[in-house]
Amino acid sequence: MTELLTRAYSPGGFRKQGHALIDQLADYLEDVNRLPANPYATPEESLERFRQILDRRTTPHDVFAEVIAESVHLHHPEYMGHQVVPPAPVAALSDLVSSLLNTGMAVFEMGRPGTAMEKLVIERFASLLGLAPTADGFLTSGGSLANLTALLCARAKHGPADRPCLLVSEHAHYCIERAVRVMGWGEEGIIHLPTDAELRVRVDQVRPLIEQARQEGRTPIALVGSACTTATGTFDPLEELGQVATNYGLWFHVDGAHGAAVRLSPQHRHLVRGLERADSVTLDFHKMLMVPAITTGLFFRDGKDAYRTFHQRAEYLLTEGIDEDWSNIAKRSFECTKRMLSLRVFTLLSAYGPQVFQDYVDGVANLGSELARLIRQQPDLELFMQPDINIVCFRFVHVSLPAISRDGVNEMIRDRLTRSGQTYIVQTRINGQVYLRCTLTNPFTTVGNLEKMLLKVASIGHDLTALRYRIG
Ligand SMILES: Cc1ncc(COP(=O)(O)O)c(C=O)c1O
Repeated sequence: MTELLTRAYSPGGFRKQGHALIDQLADYLEDVNRLPANPYATPEESLERFRQILDRRTTPHDVFAEVIAESVHLHHPEYMGHQVVPPAPVAALSDLVSSLLNTGMAVFEMGRPGTAMEKLVIERFASLLGLAPTADGFLTSGGSLANLTALLCARAKHGPADRPCLLVSEHAHYCIERAVRVMGWGEEGIIHLPTDAELRVRVDQVRPLIEQARQEGRTPIALVGSACTTATGTFDPLEELGQVATNYGLWFHVDGAHGAAVRLSPQHRHLVRGLERADSVTLDFHKMLMVPAITTGLFFRDGKDAYRTFHQRAEYLLTEGIDEDWSNIAKRSFECTKRMLSLRVFTLLSAYGPQVFQDYVDGVANLGSELARLIRQQPDLELFMQPDINIVCFRFVHVSLPAISRDGVNEMIRDRLTRSGQTYIVQTRINGQVYLRCTLTNPFTTVGNLEKMLLKVASIGHDLTALRYRIG
């Protein structure tokens, strides 16, 4: 055994580094409010900084310090950017266990605790989502992969079809379109459903489009509902879509990557009325359920469908003939080796019970309403829609700013905010127009933080408007 290898695997060294790391991260959590929410750097600056660290060979402690300092701080109350949750620290501790044991999750004999916990997490969440007792599913690596897996299952269940296609909102996440391409359905494999002013699918348009597709010799196989859409957080009318899917014998998939979690809250579950009709549901635990990315549940109303997508032989791993071999999860998921994703959720569930998720969902959804209220009070700001939950879109529209300049000014506002490092919001285009977009993922954000962010937006907007006048 070389001295180097002995050092790399030393339990004593691990103990020392581990204690130091926990202190470092706990200090970080305590002090995060004092850091800039989004330390700004260009890709080249970042690359150079880390190249220097690598070249001078430094301790793990110093590397961790640099990573912490350079990262976007999701635990900062002015983080209002993308839909990634600040994880509960205990879920991060679970990752340490998972990484050190590294047992993989393809077959039961390699990943016994992870497999058992995964079954229980799926069972509990299927029930919390209001799905039938026959429901089953598994954890997988991201909403995009879960959506693809569900649609592959829909295709497998349908069997051979002429010119297959699916129907989905024109505002659905792009991964649905990508899944259609992966399945080789081509341009005509997707029918974009028109939406109303709040970007909800217009149910009255679905039947005619299905019938038109059939008349053209195409085969609609699936109908996809968004719960909710990515850009604006709009929930499609799932109950009505589910009814149409049943009437036409289509697979009904709900992309609930972001919003299916609202089913856990009595205050907000009306948004996913009809979720139980879905043949399959995607739920990202890393968006609204307090665990690190990426942790996604894919649920099937009929548990047997969970085995349908990747049914194939792999002699060295999987036994033949046992169709519902629940404990060998690689039979169902795209992944072979997989992290112990279940541990993250399991530790939270066992420590705090499902109430903690309800508290979280209610907390961030109420922040969404608060932000909308504040925006409405500001004459220079225009709210896109009353938010369904925690995604809020708005823009700066000063009276003396001509409509033609609004996109440019809002882009510049976001750019200046990003460079200032003080707050993190993003932007999107809705109906071709630029909007500022906040996802309120941090339950510790206060109304004061929201006001501060809006003040900065308005102040940059006013500066830019004045500048425009000076330039002429
Ligand atoms: C509605 C929706 N579906 C799918 C995805 C993709 O999820 P993931 O990033 O976990 O692959 C997102 C991500 O933003 C989303 O908002």
